[in-house]
Amino acid sequence: MATVYKNSKKLIIANWKMNGSIEKIIADLNVYAQNLDLSNHDIVLALPYPYLYLVLGQKRAYNIAAQDISRFAAYGAHTGEVSATMLLEFGVKYVLIGHSERRLGLNETCDILLEKLKNALKLKMVPIFCVGEERLQRDNGNYEDFLRQQLDILLACGDNLEELVIAYEPVWAIGSGVLPTGNEIAIVVELIHVFMQKYLPHVKIALLYGGSVNMTNSANIFAIKGIDGILVGAASLDPHQFISICKTAK
Ligand code: PGA
Repeated sequence: MATVYKNSKKLIIANWKMNGSIEKIIADLNVYAQNLDLSNHDIVLALPYPYLYLVLGQKRAYNIAAQDISRFAAYGAHTGEVSATMLLEFGVKYVLIGHSERRLGLNETCDILLEKLKNALKLKMVPIFCVGEERLQRDNGNYEDFLRQQLDILLACGDNLEELVIAYEPVWAIGSGVLPTGNEIAIVVELIHVFMQKYLPHVKIALLYGGSVNMTNSANIFAIKGIDGILVGAASLDPHQFISICKTAK
């Protein structure tokens, strides 16, 4: 199996989505400062753009992820867009690309995602590339082909693709409280590793699971072979639950 995540620590990403406030984030960071032991895992905080600076002010080393990136290059007449160049100034190391809430809710096509991937990679940012089937594809039994098609985009990224996080997030598991079984996750983990090994063996990847992760199921997910970490949505909004999840990382 081709797990080549260069760090043996688990990677835990908190995806706050469109949530938070200055007050809440400062309060949560204080709870982390007192209770979160960073020796066993790397934490990545994906906050809405305006709040990223709050993490920069911390003495502790949290990694920062943007939840999106512009498909356009550095600067220009693109009202409302935020470029990779700008994010880099804020110490943003990671960026979420291909989350189903953007693919499906905001019509982000493969062409758009490829432009975003290229912009991030050009500046050595690490994309957190999200893939995942919908319920229908799983029920129809064609989810494996669907996932391979989603991964195909990586073949067009060019030479800048050296390091990548891939998050397997079945759409039907996001925010639903319904998780795939450990075996179902393991099958997809294997599929992704086989794909990467076959077509992009030089790329360092960390492979995450995301979708309804909470403190009661996280230990089981960490235990799945080939899983390098997790992407946590709703449960990351409760700092105590988030810390409990982190404690289950081995
Ligand atoms: P969830 O979201 O943990 O709330 O299911 C995960 C995600 O969408 O990244």
